[in-house]
Amino acid sequence: MGKSSSFLYQVSQHRFPAALKGFFYFLHVSLALTTLLVIFIYISTTGNVTNDHAQTTLYLQTLPSTSSISSLIGQTIPIVPFENNDNDDLFADPSRIARMTRANQWFLGNLFGLTNGNYTDNQEAYHDGDLFLQDYKQMNKSLKIYVYPHSKDDPFANVLLPPDSDIKGNFASELLFKKALMKSHFITKDPNEADLFYMPFSISPMRTDPRIDVDGIPGFVKNYISNITRKYPYWNRTGGADHFYVACHSIGKIAFDKAFVARLNVIQLVCSSTYFPSSYLPHKDASMPQVWPRQGDPPNLLTSQRKRLAFFAGAVNSPVRIALLKVWANDTEIFAHFGRLQTPYSEQLLGSKFCIHVKGFEVNTARVADALYYGCVPIILANHYDLPFTDILNWKSFSVIVHHIDIPVLKKILQGISNDEYSMLQSNALRVRKHFQWNVPPIDFDAFHMSMYELWKRRSVVRVKLTPSMEFM
Ligand SMILES: *[C@@H]1O[C@H](CO)[C@@H](O)[C@H](O)[C@H]1NC(C)=O
Ligand SMILES: *[C@@H]1O[C@H](CO)[C@@H](O)[C@H](O)[C@H]1NC(C)=O
Ligand SMILES: *[C@@H]1O[C@H](CO)[C@@H](O)[C@H](O)[C@H]1NC(C)=O
Ligand SMILES: *[C@@H]1O[C@H](CO)[C@@H](O)[C@H](O)[C@H]1NC(C)=O
Ligand SMILES: *[C@@H]1O[C@H](CO)[C@@H](O)[C@H](O)[C@H]1NC(C)=O
Repeated sequence: MGKSSSFLYQVSQHRFPAALKGFFYFLHVSLALTTLLVIFIYISTTGNVTNDHAQTTLYLQTLPSTSSISSLIGQTIPIVPFENNDNDDLFADPSRIARMTRANQWFLGNLFGLTNGNYTDNQEAYHDGDLFLQDYKQMNKSLKIYVYPHSKDDPFANVLLPPDSDIKGNFASELLFKKALMKSHFITKDPNEADLFYMPFSISPMRTDPRIDVDGIPGFVKNYISNITRKYPYWNRTGGADHFYVACHSIGKIAFDKAFVARLNVIQLVCSSTYFPSSYLPHKDASMPQVWPRQGDPPNLLTSQRKRLAFFAGAVNSPVRIALLKVWANDTEIFAHFGRLQTPYSEQLLGSKFCIHVKGFEVNTARVADALYYGCVPIILANHYDLPFTDILNWKSFSVIVHHIDIPVLKKILQGISNDEYSMLQSNALRVRKHFQWNVPPIDFDAFHMSMYELWKRRSVVRVKLTPSMEFM
Protein backbone atom coordinates (compact mmCIF):
# COMPACT_ATOMS: atom_id res chain seq x y z
CA MET A 1 0.00 0.00 0.00
CA GLY A 2 2.76 2.38 1.00
CA LYS A 3 4.62 1.51 -2.14
CA SER A 4 1.81 2.28 -4.53
CA SER A 5 0.66 5.47 -2.86
CA SER A 6 4.12 6.99 -2.71
CA PHE A 7 4.53 5.95 -6.31
CA LEU A 8 1.40 7.83 -7.34
CA TYR A 9 2.54 10.84 -5.42
CA GLN A 10 5.85 10.78 -7.22
CA VAL A 11 4.16 10.68 -10.58
CA SER A 12 1.73 13.45 -9.80
CA GLN A 13 4.59 15.69 -8.71
CA HIS A 14 6.47 15.11 -11.90
CA ARG A 15 3.73 15.42 -14.44
CA PHE A 16 1.09 17.91 -13.46
CA PRO A 17 1.20 21.63 -14.25
CA ALA A 18 1.72 24.06 -11.39
CA ALA A 19 -1.94 24.94 -10.83
CA LEU A 20 -2.93 21.31 -10.64
CA LYS A 21 0.03 20.65 -8.42
CA GLY A 22 -1.27 23.20 -5.95
CA PHE A 23 -4.66 21.56 -6.02
CA PHE A 24 -3.16 18.13 -5.45
CA TYR A 25 -1.06 19.46 -2.63
CA PHE A 26 -4.18 20.80 -1.00
CA LEU A 27 -5.91 17.48 -1.62
CA HIS A 28 -3.07 15.50 -0.09
CA VAL A 29 -2.86 17.64 2.98
CA SER A 30 -6.59 17.65 3.57
CA LEU A 31 -6.80 13.89 2.99
CA ALA A 32 -3.97 13.34 5.43
CA LEU A 33 -5.61 15.53 8.06
CA THR A 34 -8.98 13.82 7.60
CA THR A 35 -7.34 10.40 7.93
CA LEU A 36 -5.61 11.47 11.12
CA LEU A 37 -8.88 12.72 12.53
CA VAL A 38 -10.66 9.48 11.68
CA ILE A 39 -7.86 7.42 13.24
CA PHE A 40 -7.99 9.57 16.35
CA ILE A 41 -11.75 9.15 16.67
CA TYR A 42 -11.40 5.42 16.08
CA ILE A 43 -8.74 5.02 18.77
CA SER A 44 -10.61 7.09 21.31
CA THR A 45 -13.85 5.18 20.76
CA THR A 46 -12.37 1.68 20.68
CA GLY A 47 -11.37 0.71 24.18
CA ASN A 48 -9.63 -2.60 23.49
CA VAL A 49 -7.57 -1.64 20.48
CA THR A 50 -3.91 -2.22 21.06
CA ASN A 51 -1.77 0.75 20.30
CA ASP A 52 1.34 -1.24 19.62
CA HIS A 53 2.17 -0.71 15.96
CA ALA A 54 5.17 -3.00 16.07
CA GLN A 55 2.96 -5.94 16.90
CA THR A 56 1.92 -8.08 14.00
CA THR A 57 -1.61 -9.36 14.05
CA LEU A 58 -3.17 -12.39 12.49
CA TYR A 59 -6.80 -12.41 11.50
CA LEU A 60 -8.77 -15.47 12.41
CA GLN A 61 -11.38 -16.63 10.04
CA THR A 62 -14.91 -15.89 11.13
CA LEU A 63 -16.96 -19.01 10.72
CA PRO A 64 -20.51 -19.20 12.01
CA SER A 65 -20.11 -21.28 15.14
CA THR A 66 -21.13 -21.62 18.72
CA SER A 67 -17.78 -22.80 20.03
CA SER A 68 -15.31 -20.77 22.03
CA ILE A 69 -13.76 -19.29 18.92
CA SER A 70 -16.87 -17.22 18.32
CA SER A 71 -15.78 -14.92 21.13
CA LEU A 72 -12.77 -14.05 18.98
CA ILE A 73 -14.72 -13.14 15.91
CA GLY A 74 -14.09 -9.62 14.79
CA GLN A 75 -11.02 -9.30 16.97
CA THR A 76 -7.42 -9.72 16.09
CA ILE A 77 -5.11 -12.05 17.92
CA PRO A 78 -1.50 -11.03 18.44
CA ILE A 79 1.02 -13.52 17.20
CA VAL A 80 4.64 -14.05 18.15
CA PRO A 81 7.53 -15.19 15.98
CA PHE A 82 7.91 -18.94 16.22
CA GLU A 83 10.49 -19.42 18.92
CA ASN A 84 12.04 -22.85 19.11
CA ASN A 85 13.22 -23.55 15.59
CA ASP A 86 16.35 -21.97 14.15
CA ASN A 87 15.24 -22.44 10.59
CA ASP A 88 12.01 -20.65 11.15
CA ASP A 89 13.32 -17.68 13.03
CA LEU A 90 13.11 -14.78 10.63
CA PHE A 91 15.73 -12.68 12.35
CA ALA A 92 18.21 -15.41 13.23
CA ASP A 93 19.27 -15.59 9.60
CA PRO A 94 21.21 -12.45 8.58
CA SER A 95 21.02 -13.44 4.91
CA ARG A 96 17.27 -12.94 5.03
CA ILE A 97 17.67 -9.45 6.40
CA ALA A 98 20.24 -8.72 3.70
CA ARG A 99 17.82 -10.00 1.10
CA MET A 100 14.98 -7.88 2.38
CA THR A 101 17.20 -4.82 2.30
CA ARG A 102 18.29 -5.61 -1.22
CA ALA A 103 14.70 -6.05 -2.33
CA ASN A 104 13.91 -2.61 -0.93
CA GLN A 105 16.90 -1.05 -2.63
CA TRP A 106 15.87 -2.70 -5.83
CA PHE A 107 12.41 -1.29 -5.55
CA LEU A 108 13.64 2.24 -4.96
CA GLY A 109 16.19 1.91 -7.74
CA ASN A 110 13.43 0.83 -10.03
CA LEU A 111 11.29 3.81 -9.19
CA PHE A 112 14.07 6.23 -10.03
CA GLY A 113 15.19 4.11 -12.97
CA LEU A 114 11.81 4.82 -14.52
CA THR A 115 12.48 8.50 -14.73
CA ASN A 116 16.06 8.56 -15.99
CA GLY A 117 15.76 5.54 -18.29
CA ASN A 118 19.13 4.16 -17.17
CA TYR A 119 19.11 0.39 -17.46
CA THR A 120 22.79 -0.22 -16.84
CA ASP A 121 22.80 0.45 -13.10
CA ASN A 122 22.73 -3.22 -12.32
CA GLN A 123 23.59 -5.79 -14.92
CA GLU A 124 23.09 -8.89 -12.82
CA ALA A 125 20.09 -11.05 -13.62
CA TYR A 126 19.76 -12.06 -9.96
CA HIS A 127 19.75 -9.84 -6.89
CA ASP A 128 22.09 -12.37 -5.32
CA GLY A 129 22.60 -15.56 -7.30
CA ASP A 130 24.71 -17.34 -4.67
CA LEU A 131 22.25 -16.66 -1.91
CA PHE A 132 19.39 -17.80 -4.11
CA LEU A 133 21.14 -21.04 -5.02
CA GLN A 134 21.92 -21.81 -1.41
CA ASP A 135 18.32 -21.10 -0.38
CA TYR A 136 16.91 -23.03 -3.29
CA LYS A 137 18.87 -26.15 -2.38
CA GLN A 138 17.60 -25.89 1.16
CA MET A 139 14.04 -25.52 -0.11
CA ASN A 140 14.46 -28.46 -2.49
CA LYS A 141 15.65 -30.65 0.37
CA SER A 142 13.29 -29.67 3.14
CA LEU A 143 9.98 -28.26 1.88
CA LYS A 144 7.05 -30.56 2.57
CA ILE A 145 3.48 -30.01 1.43
CA TYR A 146 0.38 -31.81 2.64
CA VAL A 147 -2.41 -31.89 0.06
CA TYR A 148 -5.96 -32.34 1.31
CA PRO A 149 -6.88 -35.75 -0.11
CA HIS A 150 -9.74 -36.28 -2.53
CA SER A 151 -10.72 -39.44 -4.33
CA LYS A 152 -11.52 -39.98 -7.99
CA ASP A 153 -15.13 -40.60 -6.94
CA ASP A 154 -15.54 -37.15 -5.45
CA PRO A 155 -18.30 -35.39 -7.39
CA PHE A 156 -15.91 -32.46 -7.79
CA ALA A 157 -12.85 -34.51 -8.75
CA ASN A 158 -12.63 -32.38 -11.91
CA VAL A 159 -11.98 -29.33 -9.72
CA LEU A 160 -9.86 -31.00 -7.05
CA LEU A 161 -7.62 -33.46 -8.89
CA PRO A 162 -5.13 -32.70 -11.66
CA PRO A 163 -6.52 -33.51 -15.12
CA ASP A 164 -5.25 -36.58 -16.99
CA SER A 165 -5.29 -34.84 -20.34
CA ASP A 166 -2.68 -32.43 -21.69
CA ILE A 167 -2.92 -28.98 -20.20
CA LYS A 168 -3.17 -26.14 -22.68
CA GLY A 169 -4.21 -22.54 -22.98
CA ASN A 170 -3.82 -19.21 -21.31
CA PHE A 171 -4.45 -20.24 -17.72
CA ALA A 172 -2.50 -23.49 -17.83
CA SER A 173 -0.17 -22.43 -15.00
CA GLU A 174 -2.64 -23.34 -12.23
CA LEU A 175 -3.21 -26.90 -13.51
CA LEU A 176 0.42 -27.43 -14.51
CA PHE A 177 1.36 -26.47 -10.98
CA LYS A 178 -1.09 -28.96 -9.48
CA LYS A 179 -0.02 -31.77 -11.77
CA ALA A 180 3.67 -31.17 -11.07
CA LEU A 181 3.19 -30.86 -7.31
CA MET A 182 1.19 -34.07 -6.92
CA LYS A 183 4.00 -36.12 -8.46
CA SER A 184 6.86 -34.29 -6.77
CA HIS A 185 9.09 -35.14 -3.84
CA PHE A 186 7.61 -32.17 -1.96
CA ILE A 187 4.47 -34.12 -1.12
CA THR A 188 4.10 -35.66 2.32
CA LYS A 189 1.34 -37.91 3.57
CA ASP A 190 2.21 -36.95 7.12
CA PRO A 191 0.59 -33.63 8.04
CA ASN A 192 2.88 -33.36 11.06
CA GLU A 193 5.92 -32.85 8.89
CA ALA A 194 4.19 -30.45 6.49
CA ASP A 195 5.34 -26.85 6.18
CA LEU A 196 2.31 -25.93 4.13
CA PHE A 197 -1.17 -27.26 3.36
CA TYR A 198 -2.48 -27.16 -0.20
CA MET A 199 -6.17 -26.71 -0.92
CA PRO A 200 -6.26 -28.24 -4.39
CA PHE A 201 -9.33 -26.57 -5.89
CA SER A 202 -8.63 -24.97 -9.26
CA ILE A 203 -10.32 -21.93 -10.64
CA SER A 204 -10.54 -22.67 -14.38
CA PRO A 205 -12.43 -26.00 -14.04
CA MET A 206 -14.83 -24.37 -11.53
CA ARG A 207 -15.55 -21.64 -14.00
CA THR A 208 -16.57 -24.08 -16.73
CA ASP A 209 -18.45 -26.53 -14.47
CA PRO A 210 -22.18 -25.71 -14.85
CA ARG A 211 -22.79 -26.89 -11.25
CA ILE A 212 -20.53 -24.10 -10.00
CA ASP A 213 -19.99 -21.48 -12.72
CA VAL A 214 -18.37 -18.11 -12.00
CA ASP A 215 -21.10 -17.09 -9.57
CA GLY A 216 -20.73 -20.28 -7.56
CA ILE A 217 -16.97 -20.03 -6.99
CA PRO A 218 -17.09 -17.99 -3.74
CA GLY A 219 -19.70 -20.36 -2.25
CA PHE A 220 -17.68 -23.42 -3.23
CA VAL A 221 -14.53 -22.03 -1.62
CA LYS A 222 -16.42 -21.09 1.54
CA ASN A 223 -17.83 -24.62 1.81
CA TYR A 224 -14.48 -26.15 1.08
CA ILE A 225 -12.82 -24.25 3.90
CA SER A 226 -15.69 -24.96 6.22
CA ASN A 227 -15.34 -28.69 5.40
CA ILE A 228 -11.59 -28.89 6.07
CA THR A 229 -12.00 -26.76 9.19
CA ARG A 230 -14.42 -29.26 10.68
CA LYS A 231 -12.75 -32.42 9.43
CA TYR A 232 -9.10 -31.64 10.15
CA PRO A 233 -7.31 -29.82 12.98
CA TYR A 234 -4.81 -27.94 10.76
CA TRP A 235 -6.78 -24.90 9.74
CA ASN A 236 -7.64 -23.90 13.28
CA ARG A 237 -3.98 -24.01 14.39
CA THR A 238 -3.08 -20.96 12.33
CA GLY A 239 -6.38 -19.63 11.04
CA GLY A 240 -5.24 -20.89 7.63
CA ALA A 241 -1.93 -19.00 7.54
CA ASP A 242 0.01 -22.13 6.48
CA HIS A 243 -2.56 -22.96 3.80
CA PHE A 244 -2.33 -22.03 0.16
CA TYR A 245 -4.20 -22.30 -3.11
CA VAL A 246 -3.22 -21.56 -6.69
CA ALA A 247 -5.03 -19.56 -9.37
CA CYS A 248 -4.03 -18.26 -12.74
CA HIS A 249 -7.42 -17.30 -14.11
CA SER A 250 -8.17 -13.74 -13.03
CA ILE A 251 -11.63 -14.76 -11.84
CA GLY A 252 -9.74 -16.29 -8.90
CA LYS A 253 -9.80 -12.84 -7.34
CA ILE A 254 -13.44 -13.42 -6.31
CA ALA A 255 -12.74 -16.92 -4.93
CA PHE A 256 -12.57 -15.74 -1.33
CA ASP A 257 -15.35 -13.17 -1.50
CA LYS A 258 -17.43 -15.29 0.88
CA ALA A 259 -14.43 -16.26 3.01
CA PHE A 260 -13.09 -12.78 3.43
CA VAL A 261 -11.15 -13.32 6.64
CA ALA A 262 -9.62 -16.54 5.29
CA ARG A 263 -8.21 -14.49 2.43
CA LEU A 264 -6.34 -12.34 4.92
CA ASN A 265 -4.47 -15.43 6.11
CA VAL A 266 -4.01 -17.96 3.30
CA ILE A 267 -1.14 -17.71 0.84
CA GLN A 268 -2.43 -17.01 -2.64
CA LEU A 269 -0.13 -18.12 -5.46
CA VAL A 270 -1.68 -16.27 -8.38
CA CYS A 271 -0.98 -14.82 -11.81
CA SER A 272 -3.06 -11.66 -11.25
CA SER A 273 -0.77 -10.02 -8.73
CA THR A 274 -1.17 -6.30 -8.35
CA TYR A 275 -0.06 -3.81 -5.70
CA PHE A 276 -3.10 -1.75 -6.46
CA PRO A 277 -5.87 -2.39 -3.91
CA SER A 278 -7.27 -5.79 -4.81
CA SER A 279 -7.66 -9.26 -3.38
CA TYR A 280 -3.91 -9.80 -3.66
CA LEU A 281 -1.89 -8.97 -0.56
CA PRO A 282 1.77 -8.61 -1.58
CA HIS A 283 3.29 -9.18 1.86
CA LYS A 284 2.01 -12.76 2.11
CA ASP A 285 0.87 -13.78 -1.39
CA ALA A 286 3.09 -14.70 -4.31
CA SER A 287 3.11 -14.02 -8.02
CA MET A 288 3.23 -16.89 -10.50
CA PRO A 289 3.92 -16.30 -14.20
CA GLN A 290 1.12 -16.74 -16.69
CA VAL A 291 2.57 -18.98 -19.36
CA TRP A 292 1.24 -20.30 -22.64
CA PRO A 293 2.74 -23.80 -22.52
CA ARG A 294 5.32 -24.70 -25.18
CA GLN A 295 7.76 -27.56 -25.34
CA GLY A 296 11.41 -27.23 -26.35
CA ASP A 297 13.06 -24.13 -27.77
CA PRO A 298 12.15 -22.19 -30.90
CA PRO A 299 14.61 -23.35 -33.62
CA ASN A 300 16.05 -19.94 -34.54
CA LEU A 301 16.17 -18.37 -31.10
CA LEU A 302 19.76 -17.17 -31.32
CA THR A 303 20.13 -16.59 -35.04
CA SER A 304 16.99 -14.57 -35.72
CA GLN A 305 17.43 -11.07 -37.13
CA ARG A 306 15.53 -8.59 -34.99
CA LYS A 307 14.76 -5.78 -37.45
CA ARG A 308 11.73 -4.29 -35.75
CA LEU A 309 12.11 -2.07 -32.69
CA ALA A 310 9.01 -3.16 -30.76
CA PHE A 311 5.94 -5.31 -31.16
CA PHE A 312 2.53 -5.65 -29.56
CA ALA A 313 -0.58 -7.55 -30.63
CA GLY A 314 -3.81 -7.94 -28.73
CA ALA A 315 -7.33 -6.76 -28.07
CA VAL A 316 -8.12 -3.18 -27.11
CA ASN A 317 -9.64 -3.92 -23.71
CA SER A 318 -8.08 -1.42 -21.32
CA PRO A 319 -7.34 2.31 -21.09
CA VAL A 320 -3.59 1.60 -21.35
CA ARG A 321 -4.07 -0.27 -24.60
CA ILE A 322 -6.24 2.55 -25.92
CA ALA A 323 -3.45 4.97 -25.04
CA LEU A 324 -0.91 2.79 -26.84
CA LEU A 325 -3.15 2.57 -29.90
CA LYS A 326 -3.70 6.31 -29.93
CA VAL A 327 0.01 7.07 -30.13
CA TRP A 328 1.58 4.14 -31.96
CA ALA A 329 -1.08 2.53 -34.17
CA ASN A 330 0.56 3.63 -37.46
CA ASP A 331 4.19 3.76 -36.45
CA THR A 332 6.75 1.95 -38.58
CA GLU A 333 9.21 1.10 -35.79
CA ILE A 334 6.79 0.30 -32.99
CA PHE A 335 4.39 -2.22 -34.44
CA ALA A 336 1.25 -2.10 -32.31
CA HIS A 337 -1.29 -4.39 -33.88
CA PHE A 338 -4.80 -4.55 -32.50
CA GLY A 339 -6.84 -7.63 -33.27
CA ARG A 340 -5.76 -10.82 -34.99
CA LEU A 341 -2.35 -10.94 -36.66
CA GLN A 342 -2.03 -11.90 -40.32
CA THR A 343 1.50 -13.24 -39.84
CA PRO A 344 2.55 -15.93 -37.34
CA TYR A 345 2.96 -14.61 -33.78
CA SER A 346 6.33 -16.36 -33.44
CA GLU A 347 7.69 -14.46 -36.46
CA GLN A 348 6.94 -11.13 -34.78
CA LEU A 349 8.43 -12.21 -31.46
CA LEU A 350 11.58 -13.44 -33.17
CA GLY A 351 11.81 -10.40 -35.45
CA SER A 352 11.50 -7.68 -32.79
CA LYS A 353 14.03 -6.35 -30.31
CA PHE A 354 11.40 -5.50 -27.71
CA CYS A 355 8.05 -7.18 -27.11
CA ILE A 356 5.44 -5.13 -25.33
CA HIS A 357 3.33 -6.47 -22.49
CA VAL A 358 0.42 -4.12 -21.83
CA LYS A 359 -2.05 -4.43 -18.98
CA GLY A 360 -5.39 -5.66 -20.30
CA PHE A 361 -8.21 -6.57 -17.95
CA GLU A 362 -5.49 -7.52 -15.47
CA VAL A 363 -1.84 -6.59 -14.93
CA ASN A 364 -0.75 -10.01 -16.17
CA THR A 365 -0.87 -11.78 -19.53
CA ALA A 366 1.17 -14.58 -21.04
CA ARG A 367 3.11 -12.02 -23.12
CA VAL A 368 6.02 -11.65 -20.71
CA ALA A 369 6.70 -15.38 -20.83
CA ASP A 370 6.07 -15.37 -24.62
CA ALA A 371 8.68 -12.64 -25.09
CA LEU A 372 11.27 -14.44 -22.99
CA TYR A 373 10.59 -17.75 -24.73
CA TYR A 374 11.43 -16.11 -28.07
CA GLY A 375 14.42 -14.20 -26.71
CA CYS A 376 12.69 -10.83 -27.07
CA VAL A 377 13.27 -8.23 -24.34
CA PRO A 378 9.93 -7.58 -22.61
CA ILE A 379 8.60 -4.07 -22.12
CA ILE A 380 6.32 -4.01 -19.10
CA LEU A 381 3.50 -1.52 -19.37
CA ALA A 382 1.47 -2.56 -16.35
CA ASN A 383 1.62 -0.25 -13.37
CA HIS A 384 1.49 -1.92 -9.95
CA TYR A 385 2.26 -5.37 -11.33
CA ASP A 386 4.00 -7.43 -8.63
CA LEU A 387 6.21 -9.17 -11.17
CA PRO A 388 6.88 -12.89 -10.72
CA PHE A 389 9.97 -13.84 -8.67
CA THR A 390 10.77 -10.18 -8.20
CA ASP A 391 12.58 -10.92 -4.94
CA ILE A 392 15.00 -13.22 -6.80
CA LEU A 393 15.25 -11.75 -10.29
CA ASN A 394 16.48 -8.28 -11.11
CA TRP A 395 13.80 -7.34 -13.64
CA LYS A 396 15.68 -4.22 -14.66
CA SER A 397 18.44 -6.40 -16.09
CA PHE A 398 16.23 -8.18 -18.63
CA SER A 399 13.16 -6.01 -19.17
CA VAL A 400 12.19 -2.39 -19.61
CA ILE A 401 9.57 -1.23 -17.13
CA VAL A 402 7.64 1.77 -18.41
CA HIS A 403 4.99 3.74 -16.56
CA HIS A 404 1.66 4.16 -18.39
CA ILE A 405 2.19 7.87 -18.46
CA ASP A 406 5.35 7.44 -20.55
CA ILE A 407 3.60 5.82 -23.53
CA PRO A 408 4.13 8.96 -25.69
CA VAL A 409 7.90 8.79 -25.09
CA LEU A 410 8.16 5.03 -25.48
CA LYS A 411 10.16 5.25 -28.69
CA LYS A 412 12.53 7.75 -27.16
CA ILE A 413 13.08 5.44 -24.18
CA LEU A 414 13.80 2.46 -26.44
CA GLN A 415 16.02 4.42 -28.80
CA GLY A 416 17.95 5.61 -25.75
CA ILE A 417 19.01 2.05 -25.03
CA SER A 418 22.42 1.52 -26.64
CA ASN A 419 23.43 -1.65 -28.47
CA ASP A 420 25.55 -2.67 -25.51
CA GLU A 421 22.69 -2.15 -23.12
CA TYR A 422 20.40 -4.11 -25.41
CA SER A 423 22.88 -7.01 -25.55
CA MET A 424 22.98 -7.04 -21.79
CA LEU A 425 19.16 -7.03 -21.53
CA GLN A 426 18.81 -9.76 -24.10
CA SER A 427 21.50 -12.04 -22.72
CA ASN A 428 19.87 -11.76 -19.30
CA ALA A 429 16.47 -12.47 -20.85
CA LEU A 430 17.95 -15.70 -22.23
CA ARG A 431 19.43 -16.44 -18.83
CA VAL A 432 16.13 -16.13 -16.95
CA ARG A 433 13.74 -17.59 -19.52
CA LYS A 434 13.91 -21.06 -17.97
CA HIS A 435 12.15 -19.69 -14.89
CA PHE A 436 9.11 -18.87 -17.04
CA GLN A 437 8.62 -22.33 -18.51
CA TRP A 438 6.65 -25.34 -17.33
CA ASN A 439 8.07 -28.77 -17.99
CA VAL A 440 6.44 -32.20 -17.80
CA PRO A 441 8.00 -33.58 -15.69
CA PRO A 442 9.28 -30.38 -14.05
CA ILE A 443 13.00 -29.60 -13.98
CA ASP A 444 15.06 -27.63 -11.50
CA PHE A 445 14.60 -23.82 -11.58
CA ASP A 446 11.59 -23.92 -13.89
CA ALA A 447 8.29 -22.13 -13.21
CA PHE A 448 7.18 -24.95 -10.93
CA HIS A 449 10.28 -24.96 -8.77
CA MET A 450 10.45 -21.17 -8.65
CA SER A 451 6.86 -21.11 -7.43
CA MET A 452 7.71 -23.72 -4.80
CA TYR A 453 10.59 -21.50 -3.72
CA GLU A 454 8.24 -18.53 -3.31
CA LEU A 455 5.88 -20.66 -1.23
CA TRP A 456 8.75 -21.93 0.89
CA LYS A 457 9.76 -18.39 1.79
CA ARG A 458 6.22 -17.78 2.98
CA ARG A 459 6.03 -20.91 5.14
CA SER A 460 5.15 -20.51 8.78
CA VAL A 461 7.54 -17.84 9.83
CA VAL A 462 4.96 -16.99 12.45
CA ARG A 463 2.61 -19.24 14.38
CA VAL A 464 -0.20 -18.57 16.77
CA LYS A 465 0.98 -18.94 20.31
CA LEU A 466 -1.94 -20.58 22.05
CA THR A 467 -2.71 -19.58 25.61
CA PRO A 468 -5.00 -21.86 27.66
CA SER A 469 -8.00 -19.60 27.09
CA MET A 470 -7.38 -19.63 23.35
CA GLU A 471 -6.98 -23.40 23.13
CA PHE A 472 -9.42 -24.54 20.51
CA MET A 473 -7.79 -27.51 18.86
C1 LIG B 1 23.75 5.11 -15.93
O1 LIG B 1 24.42 4.24 -15.05
C2 LIG B 1 25.80 4.13 -15.28
C3 LIG B 1 26.37 3.06 -14.36
O2 LIG B 1 26.00 3.28 -13.02
C4 LIG B 1 26.45 5.51 -15.08
O3 LIG B 1 27.83 5.43 -15.35
C5 LIG B 1 25.81 6.51 -16.05
O4 LIG B 1 26.32 7.78 -15.81
C6 LIG B 1 24.30 6.51 -15.85
N1 LIG B 1 23.69 7.35 -16.89
C7 LIG B 1 22.68 8.20 -16.66
C8 LIG B 1 22.13 8.93 -17.84
O5 LIG B 1 22.22 8.37 -15.53
C1 LIG C 1 16.27 -31.18 -6.01
O1 LIG C 1 15.80 -32.42 -5.52
C2 LIG C 1 15.74 -33.45 -6.48
C3 LIG C 1 15.10 -34.66 -5.83
O2 LIG C 1 15.72 -34.99 -4.63
C4 LIG C 1 17.13 -33.73 -7.02
O3 LIG C 1 17.06 -34.72 -8.02
C5 LIG C 1 17.71 -32.45 -7.59
O4 LIG C 1 19.03 -32.66 -8.01
C6 LIG C 1 17.68 -31.33 -6.56
N1 LIG C 1 18.15 -30.09 -7.16
C7 LIG C 1 19.00 -29.22 -6.58
C8 LIG C 1 19.41 -28.03 -7.36
O5 LIG C 1 19.42 -29.38 -5.47
C1 LIG D 1 -18.30 -30.36 1.83
O1 LIG D 1 -18.68 -31.59 2.46
C2 LIG D 1 -19.95 -32.07 2.07
C3 LIG D 1 -20.28 -33.26 2.96
O2 LIG D 1 -19.24 -34.20 2.95
C4 LIG D 1 -19.93 -32.43 0.59
O3 LIG D 1 -21.19 -32.88 0.17
C5 LIG D 1 -19.54 -31.18 -0.20
O4 LIG D 1 -19.39 -31.50 -1.58
C6 LIG D 1 -18.25 -30.58 0.32
N1 LIG D 1 -18.04 -29.31 -0.35
C7 LIG D 1 -16.86 -28.90 -0.77
C8 LIG D 1 -16.85 -27.60 -1.50
O5 LIG D 1 -15.85 -29.51 -0.57
C1 LIG E 1 -12.23 -25.38 14.22
O1 LIG E 1 -12.94 -24.22 14.62
C2 LIG E 1 -14.26 -24.18 14.09
C3 LIG E 1 -14.84 -22.82 14.42
O2 LIG E 1 -14.80 -22.58 15.76
C4 LIG E 1 -15.08 -25.33 14.69
O3 LIG E 1 -16.40 -25.30 14.20
C5 LIG E 1 -14.43 -26.63 14.29
O4 LIG E 1 -15.09 -27.71 14.88
C6 LIG E 1 -12.95 -26.63 14.70
N1 LIG E 1 -12.35 -27.79 14.09
C7 LIG E 1 -11.88 -28.81 14.78
C8 LIG E 1 -11.31 -29.93 14.00
O5 LIG E 1 -11.91 -28.85 15.99
C1 LIG F 1 -3.76 5.40 -38.56
O1 LIG F 1 -4.15 5.27 -39.90
C2 LIG F 1 -5.56 5.16 -40.09
C3 LIG F 1 -5.83 4.89 -41.56
O2 LIG F 1 -5.05 5.71 -42.37
C4 LIG F 1 -6.23 6.44 -39.57
O3 LIG F 1 -7.63 6.33 -39.71
C5 LIG F 1 -5.88 6.63 -38.10
O4 LIG F 1 -6.40 7.84 -37.63
C6 LIG F 1 -4.38 6.63 -37.90
N1 LIG F 1 -4.08 6.63 -36.48
C7 LIG F 1 -3.12 7.36 -35.92
C8 LIG F 1 -2.95 7.26 -34.44
O5 LIG F 1 -2.41 8.07 -36.55
